[in-house]
Amino acid sequence: MSLKALLDTLPIPILQAPMLGVSDHRLALAVSEAGGMGAFAGAGLAGADLGPAIAALKAQTERPFNVNLLITRPVAPGQDEIDLALARLAPWYAQSGAPLPEIPNQYAPDFEGQFSALIQAAPPVASFAFDVLTAAQVAALQAAGTYVIGTATTVAEAKAWAEVGADGVCAQGYEAGGHRGHFLADVGASLVGLLPLVATIRAVIDLPVIAAGGIMDGRGVAAVLALGASAAQMGTAFLLSDQATTSSPWRQALAAAPDEATRLTRAFTGRHARGLENRFMREMRSDEDLVPAYPVQNRLTQPLRAASTAAGDPEQISLWAGQGARLAATGDAGARVLRWWEEAKAASSQLSARLG
Ligand SMILES: Cc1cc2nc3c(=O)[nH]c(=O)nc-3n(C[C@H](O)[C@H](O)[C@H](O)COP(=O)(O)O)c2cc1C
Repeated sequence: MSLKALLDTLPIPILQAPMLGVSDHRLALAVSEAGGMGAFAGAGLAGADLGPAIAALKAQTERPFNVNLLITRPVAPGQDEIDLALARLAPWYAQSGAPLPEIPNQYAPDFEGQFSALIQAAPPVASFAFDVLTAAQVAALQAAGTYVIGTATTVAEAKAWAEVGADGVCAQGYEAGGHRGHFLADVGASLVGLLPLVATIRAVIDLPVIAAGGIMDGRGVAAVLALGASAAQMGTAFLLSDQATTSSPWRQALAAAPDEATRLTRAFTGRHARGLENRFMREMRSDEDLVPAYPVQNRLTQPLRAASTAAGDPEQISLWAGQGARLAATGDAGARVLRWWEEAKAASSQLSARLG
């Protein structure tokens, strides 16, 4: 079996995007059991917790699922940088009533520990973003029985994943919600729309491509399959679903989002990400290039975002969402997957009729 064969024989070629903080085992299971492929966003867990979480998922389904990690390296920011970053955030913390965070020993879970746990737990599929693995790491996962998907925002990044032996590439278009996965060029050179991204990657790389970014319903699924993608990956489309752990102020902001509500920002986490624009994004815009790089700023704003979420105030929460946010639908995630697939088939029939 290959990843291509797995995707070609999925009853429904719809992948739920891994979404840290939103997609736990419930959403992953609902999508996989419906015939698509669910994803567990594992980046927030230390290795010791990741293994049992994957084992629990394996015990609950025979269907394939994906476990996602964000490739990060240990960081040791200087005291000056942290002092400056905290001074910038101090008025926001003061307004929220939450104390400024203590300086942590660690800004993100240790990637090496997570990676060892992943190999041990051997999920059917693992996907990665923010960087590229080494060929030895890819081979180790494959030897454990796990297919490897790398996130690419450009053709060069897709080639980098092909060179280390990945089984497939997730093409993340400019439209996508959440963090940008770019790791070779700067963000400005890595904002390619999904249509040209899938087409250009397909033209040069002989690996299955999973299309992600702005796909909100069955029409979008049909469109990327017509373009040569092996599957459509949807994130924002699931944010209002019953199984997503999206907080209530985030849900309310999404449900009320106007057209063209999203912007890219670096202010929340130190890495560019797309979300519904709010006061924090607007007022931090002039400073956003100065904040410490991910994961430092991410860790420093976490308590602020948690306090705002608890207070029901959407203005200091990272409301990650893609350009299709207005089309996010409520209801059971599994039922949605089945419906999107029916819509995709209907869109395909209409197109066939038009093409004669
Ligand atoms: C709330 C949210 C959280 C996300 N977290 C992750 C993550 O943990 N790992 C990852 O590789 N991608 C993450 N992404 C990006 C998605 O994998 C995917 O690229 C994106 O959702 C596709 O665009 P769409 O949201 O328009 O469907 C996240 C996206 C969103 C909306």
